[in-house]
Amino acid sequence: MKLLETKTGLTGTLTVPADKSISHRSIMFGAISHGKTTVHNFLRAEDCLSTVAVFKALGVTISDDGKEIIVEGKGFEHLQAPQEVLDAGNSGTTMRLVLGILTGQTFHSKITGDASLNRRPMERVMGPLRKMGGHLKGELDSEFPPIIIEGSELTAITYEMPIASAQVKSAILFAALQAKGITTIIEKEKSRNHTEEMIKQFGGEISVEDKVITVPGEQQLIGQEVTVPGDISSAAFYLVAASLLPDSKLKLKHVGVNPTRTGILDVLQEMGADIQAADIDQQNQAADLLIKTAPLNAVEIGGEIIPRLIDELPVIALAATQAKGTTIIRDAQELKVKETNRIDATAQELNKLGADIETTDDGMIIHGPTKLHGGVVDSHGDHRIGMMLQIAALLTKESVELNNPEAINISYPNFFTDLASLI
Ligand code: S3P
Repeated sequence: MKLLETKTGLTGTLTVPADKSISHRSIMFGAISHGKTTVHNFLRAEDCLSTVAVFKALGVTISDDGKEIIVEGKGFEHLQAPQEVLDAGNSGTTMRLVLGILTGQTFHSKITGDASLNRRPMERVMGPLRKMGGHLKGELDSEFPPIIIEGSELTAITYEMPIASAQVKSAILFAALQAKGITTIIEKEKSRNHTEEMIKQFGGEISVEDKVITVPGEQQLIGQEVTVPGDISSAAFYLVAASLLPDSKLKLKHVGVNPTRTGILDVLQEMGADIQAADIDQQNQAADLLIKTAPLNAVEIGGEIIPRLIDELPVIALAATQAKGTTIIRDAQELKVKETNRIDATAQELNKLGADIETTDDGMIIHGPTKLHGGVVDSHGDHRIGMMLQIAALLTKESVELNNPEAINISYPNFFTDLASLI
């Protein structure tokens, strides 16, 4: 498709779609809790709808009246053996977190995904779950999906995480809630903490001291009302676009600003961006973000901040192509095992438009500023690469064609309409 173009900046007010990580978890926590969970502002995008389908297949009643999603909680003990192979679609979060739930069940099950998900590593989750007594393996005797799970009795472990991953941590937490004993997880770096926060919100017990998380097993959770804030990972595309395009003045309403997710605000501000937070909603960890055009400078990004902005790195790389100086992104090797290899995809596609990006083993070196031009690019079937390329297209004089734009429906089905409303 031909991407949107603009001669001016982005102006106006937008409510970005609901947070994907919290939307997934609202269904999962609703299902494993007792009683009703009501989810306000659920993200109706393909990834989260995969989670809904998986829990329906596990016997959970989930209804959508067009406004709220209602989950009739079964508790861990009344989930039902699925009649079919569970399908996580493109969603790594669905598959990995659900493995933590299924491994403690009494029944057997199998879960698969699309071609991209079936190439993503699962040993990082299966390893610790096996240490807890779980029985899981790749159907093809590899670490890749489809995964076969024999439900097992679980025992608590102490686990030092070799990688910083909220998905791995969350899978262990879901298993720990069903296990006998007290599980301790030691994080490598602090990653998004939505699972920990929601264990508390759903009446569970958990203690977090810096990177050490302790959870007692055999817990009973209780259904809740959840309001999902806007997704800072979706807001990221507008934060970068409005910073780069001249005469922009944009307000993004009720964006989630949980500190484990706001690395992009820290980096853009360090680069010189003009971003202010207003109307802070403490209860839902959300705020309005006000962005104006500003000249950007290069930065070095690495270490503990990486998990706090991992999904935003492709669009941060785009910002760096327009910044003065050389930006270095390091410690981001996890980008290679996302929906696609995001280091290669970002460099390859932006270089087609005239960027100067070198790839490294754990990141990118981006020489800026470079003038971008038109061309034909590809999303690689990855929603975040597709949206980043649309923002790049706003910066070119010539038109840009995007192949495989439908990948964007994974997290943001209304992306093009929302963006058009600000041009
Ligand atoms: C997510 C965790 C991150 C992130 C993904 C969503 C989550 O993955 O990239 O988009 O909701 O827990 P990792 O835990 O693999 O880093």
